[in-house]
Amino acid sequence: CVLVLCWFYIFPGYRLPRDREIVEEVLRQGEVWQKNQTGIDVYRKLLTECCDPRRMFAVTKENSPMGKVLWYDGEFYHSHTVNNETYPLFVKGNPLQLPLKKCAVVGNGGILRHSKCGQDIDQADFIMRCNLPPLSKEYVVDVGTRSHLVTANPSIIEKRFQNLLWSRKVFVDSMKVYGSSYIYMPAFSMKPGTDPSLRAYYALADTSSNLTMLFANPEFLRTVGKFWKARGVHAKRLSTGLFLVSLALGLCEEVTAYGFWPFSVGLDEQPVSHHYYDNILPYKWFHAMPEEFVQLWHLHKSGTLRMRVGRCP
Ligand code: CDP
Repeated sequence: CVLVLCWFYIFPGYRLPRDREIVEEVLRQGEVWQKNQTGIDVYRKLLTECCDPRRMFAVTKENSPMGKVLWYDGEFYHSHTVNNETYPLFVKGNPLQLPLKKCAVVGNGGILRHSKCGQDIDQADFIMRCNLPPLSKEYVVDVGTRSHLVTANPSIIEKRFQNLLWSRKVFVDSMKVYGSSYIYMPAFSMKPGTDPSLRAYYALADTSSNLTMLFANPEFLRTVGKFWKARGVHAKRLSTGLFLVSLALGLCEEVTAYGFWPFSVGLDEQPVSHHYYDNILPYKWFHAMPEEFVQLWHLHKSGTLRMRVGRCP
C-alpha cells in the first residue's frame, strides 16, 4: 500500500492500465500494422547513441582487453578484471553479419500456445529466443524450430543442470536443439553467475559444439536498463525479452516480437498461462512486464516493431 502511494506521489496521474483495458485496447487495434521507416530509424539512432549495441552487446576482445574492469550490472561494487583466464574466452569482435534483415524476437508468453506462429517465426532471417526455451515436437507448430541467438541465464545452469558439476553431457545434448546459435549469457551481471557461465563455456568448447558462447556485456545491459527507465519502465531489472527487443531494434532492419503477453487473460478472454510450456510466475517485484508491454505496444502502434499477440494466419 505504501509502495502504491509512493508511486502516485512520484508519478501523479499515471496509472498502469488494467489487464482488461489492455485486452480491449489491443482488440481495438486488431491486426492492423503499418511499418514506419522513420520510427525504425529514430529508434535505431536512439539506441545507438545510448547503448551502441553493434559494438557493445557482447563482451569482446575489442571492447574488453586484458586488465579492463567489467562492473557487474546487477550488483553494486562488484567487478571482474579481465585476466588470462577470461580474455581467451571472448570473441574477437561483433560476430554478427550486420545489418540483420528480418528479426523475430520470441518471448516465452503462454499466448504462443495454439498460436500456430511457428512457420511465421521460422521465416525470419535472425531468430532470438529467451532462457533456453523448450523447442520439442509438441511446441514446434506454435514456436518454430530455428534459432540464431538464445539467452541462457546462469540460474538455469544452476537449477536445471546442477551447476554443470556432473551433468555436462545432459547439458550439451539438450543444447543441440539450438543448432549453431549464439548462446548469450549474462556472465558478468551477478557475481554468483560468473562461474556457472564459464563452466557452460567449457562444456560446449570441450565437445566441439556448433554453438558459440557470447557473454552479455554488463555495460550494455546497464545502459539499456537506463534507456527504458527514462521511458517509464520501473523495475529492479528489465526482462530478458526487453533486452533482446532492444538489441534487435539496434541491429535489425525489421523486428517482429512473439510471445510477449504478461497477462492472465487472452484476447478471447480465456485464461492464459505465464509461459507456453508452464505456468510458473516470476518473482513479483523483480520485473515490470506489464509496463514493458505498454512500451512495446506503443512501438507496435507507431510501426517501429510488430507485435504478434493473436494467432498467426
Ligand atoms: O527470465 P524472464 O523472467 O525475464 O523471462 P521468461 O519468463 O523466460 O520469458 C522470456 C521473456 O518473454 C520475458 O523476459 C518477457 O519479456 C516475455 N514474456 C512476456 O512478455 N509475457 C509472459 N507471460 C512471459 C514472458
